[in-house]
Amino acid sequence: MFSRITGVGSFLPGPAVSNDDLARRGIETNDDWIASRTGIRFRHLAEDGQTASDLGCEASQRALQAAGLTAADIDLIIVATSTPDFIFPSTACLLQCKLGNRSATAFDVQAVCSGFVYALTIAEKFIRSGSHRRALVVGAEVFSRILDWSDRGTCVLFGDGAGAVVLEAAEQPGILATALHADGAHHDILSVPGSICGGQVVGDPFLRMDGQAVFKFAVRVLAEVAEECCAAAGLPAADVDWLIPHQANVRILEATAKRMKMSMDKVIVTVDRHGNTSAASVPLALDVGLRDGRIRSGHRLMLEGVGGGFTWGAVLLQL
Ligand code: UT7
Repeated sequence: MFSRITGVGSFLPGPAVSNDDLARRGIETNDDWIASRTGIRFRHLAEDGQTASDLGCEASQRALQAAGLTAADIDLIIVATSTPDFIFPSTACLLQCKLGNRSATAFDVQAVCSGFVYALTIAEKFIRSGSHRRALVVGAEVFSRILDWSDRGTCVLFGDGAGAVVLEAAEQPGILATALHADGAHHDILSVPGSICGGQVVGDPFLRMDGQAVFKFAVRVLAEVAEECCAAAGLPAADVDWLIPHQANVRILEATAKRMKMSMDKVIVTVDRHGNTSAASVPLALDVGLRDGRIRSGHRLMLEGVGGGFTWGAVLLQL
């Protein structure tokens, strides 16, 4: 038993917000600084009251439509998010309810920007075990809610959005190899170090980051884990048609491609238009590449994530 992606969808809230728009809103920044250091020019921000499950619902409906299925056909829902609607119930349960499905197994995965790659790997293992046949795997984030808008070093980098895939049992792969890693010793270079206790916020409820430490870590592990996945599948990196890494910074993407000896023509880049949407960035990029016709049936894709924890991982698959 193998598993195969049969539908992809995504959703971005509201109009695109440019770097100049952020400067006009009073953030002491400019288009040149943000674009030259990160490649980011636009991001989308959720409206007040619009939640991760709302964005995930839109993306899921598009993925289901692409797969030719309805929500009732799904028996597993996994949502990767670090910005859930509530502490509980899970965003996956809220999404299940919004989609009108009453029976799928549903739970969230918290692996920050590696969340989608973690969730897809978990779904693959459920399907290969034979316990489930049709999974909806979603990355949905409203990072704008956890940004300190007075910290220009972080608030300009992130955006909101959602992406979803339908993963179905299949006789042919599908997913060729997966690899997941974590090293909690680096928990403090990217975190939201706060919690709620007795009705009060304890600690700091905003995203904090050591940007340069994150940059160096990401470049190293994204290349390493891609090589690990290729080796596990017995495929040279040259046989990968498209690299779809977590979209944090175009310089990280360029450095990863260089280490893998891949041309940037084979890398899907959306960070310029979406900013960093954390767990949503990989399925959003996959959907963009599919809908604009670059990614086609039969292509081999390397999906990669890296993020807080620290966590990192990759999924090598054939469409
Ligand atoms: O999912 C993972 C998410 N995280 C990442 O991908 C982050 C990876 N790291 C990075 O992308 C880069 O480290 C950043 C883009 C975050 C920062 O670039 P940097 O070259 O490491 O800049 P820096 O933090 O060392 O700041 C350089 C200067 C500082 O000014 P001074 O002290 O040299 O006068 C900052 O105050 O740039 C200033 N600065 C800004 N200026 C204009 C910081 N943020 C801004 C800003 N606009 N938004």
